[in-house]
Amino acid sequence: MDKYLEIKNVSKTIKHQRILSDICMQVESGEIIGIKGINGSGKTMLLRAVAGFIRYDGEILLYGKQREALENTNEIGVLIEHQNFLNQFTGKENLELLELLLPCKEEGEIDRVLYSVGLDPNGKRKYGKYSLGMKQRIAIAQAVMYRPKLILLDEPTNGLDEHGMELLEQLFKELKESGSTILVTSHDIDFLKRVSDRCFMMKRGELIDEAQD
Ligand SMILES: Nc1ncnc2c1ncn2[C@@H]1O[C@H](COP(=O)(O)OP(=O)(O)O)[C@@H](O)[C@H]1O
Ligand SMILES: [Mg+2]
Repeated sequence: MDKYLEIKNVSKTIKHQRILSDICMQVESGEIIGIKGINGSGKTMLLRAVAGFIRYDGEILLYGKQREALENTNEIGVLIEHQNFLNQFTGKENLELLELLLPCKEEGEIDRVLYSVGLDPNGKRKYGKYSLGMKQRIAIAQAVMYRPKLILLDEPTNGLDEHGMELLEQLFKELKESGSTILVTSHDIDFLKRVSDRCFMMKRGELIDEAQD
């Protein structure tokens, strides 16, 4: 299989503090990579680097191309921390607003993706009145609505109840079948084990391959 994503010696230093330390990872197309680690170990920062949200030292290549060359594409779906949804609109309306900028690949995609995360497409509740779990569900929906080849999910299990977790696992199965490559972080080690092909651990900015432990 092709090396789909290559992270080569990526480091990030903020105010003399080493946040990411010489990270190397090779990911094949269609792989699901789990990343665990305690708070502050650098998981979010690593996903930010792959998403192209921050500057870093080193190289990140997507199918052999510099990550920077791929700005403004819908090939990467991202759920990283604070999502900017509009309080006065429903979840569906928020996704429809995104669709005005960039249409989904197929008609009816928004309803399908809402069902897949357990949100009612006909629901009248505004985003501002959403529970934490509903906010997390719409954020996950937003990350996958374009069926991107690469999906970055930072702590998607946060705020989800048991049913939300079941739906998320099912969604992972479907994404895997459709050939998506996924990097996912979580505190929930059992969840990571269930959904990932390979697991890594972040420790003080270093990435440790679990298979080599
Ligand atoms: N904008 C920032 N400025 C300075 N330090 C930061 C910033 N963002 C994160 N950090 C630090 O980087 C480290 C890694 O953070 P983060 O990637 O959020 O960890 P995790 O997601 O594993 O909890 C932490 O020590 C955090 O305090
Ligand atoms: Mg984090």
